[in-house]
Amino acid sequence: MIATIRLLDAAEARAAIPDLCEVLTDCVNGGASVGFMQPYGNADAAPYWQVVADAVASGATLLLVAEIDGRAVGTVQVGAAQMPNQPHRGDLKKLLVHRSARGKGLARLLMDAAEREAAARGKMILVLDTATGSDAEAIYPRLGWERVGVIPDYALWPQGGLCDTTLFYKRVA
Ligand SMILES: CC(C)(COP(=O)(O)OP(=O)(O)OC[C@H]1O[C@@H](n2cnc3c(N)ncnc32)[C@H](O)[C@@H]1OP(=O)(O)O)[C@@H](O)C(=O)NCCC(=O)NCCS
Repeated sequence: MIATIRLLDAAEARAAIPDLCEVLTDCVNGGASVGFMQPYGNADAAPYWQVVADAVASGATLLLVAEIDGRAVGTVQVGAAQMPNQPHRGDLKKLLVHRSARGKGLARLLMDAAEREAAARGKMILVLDTATGSDAEAIYPRLGWERVGVIPDYALWPQGGLCDTTLFYKRVA
């Protein structure tokens, strides 16, 4: 398997929306607590990715994809627009890998690239939150992220039921 990691501009982000819808829909239907509730389909995901593409256009968001055979099967974002007193901070968001492409190192490649791109734009510290007890929670420490703590009842699982969140940070510069 040869994967390509790419940072997308706004036009590329818009062109990738069909693939990104597949990835997000697969993750939500696979039980990931990433902002959306089941039932969830590509028609639900498209407006979300349009907003992300607009944020890429304005420079508020960095959007990266992992491609196999020209198709995006994984993605991650860095929210780069912060308040004036936090220009050096970024929010790591929506690390998503399609279930068919998991376990091949794509999340590690995406995170490495996102951290590099954020650092190249003056970000020193990145922050993220992830559902407590999820696969993702186990992965971030392996990628060098520091666990801060847990906020109870922060969100819902996509099938319903309250879900705690775990906060992490990483210094990237
Ligand atoms: C979390 C997720 C992105 C991981 O993607 P992936 O491409 O399978 O991860 P990788 O193959 O790059 O694995 C990264 C590291 O985590 C480890 N890992 C992978 N799956 C794991 C699991 N279920 N439990 C523990 N560790 C795991 C890998 O061994 C690897 O560590 P290593 O490089 O030191 O060996 C994927 O499971 C996913 O999309 N989940 C649903 C969406 C989600 O919850 N996203 C998080 C939002 S904050």
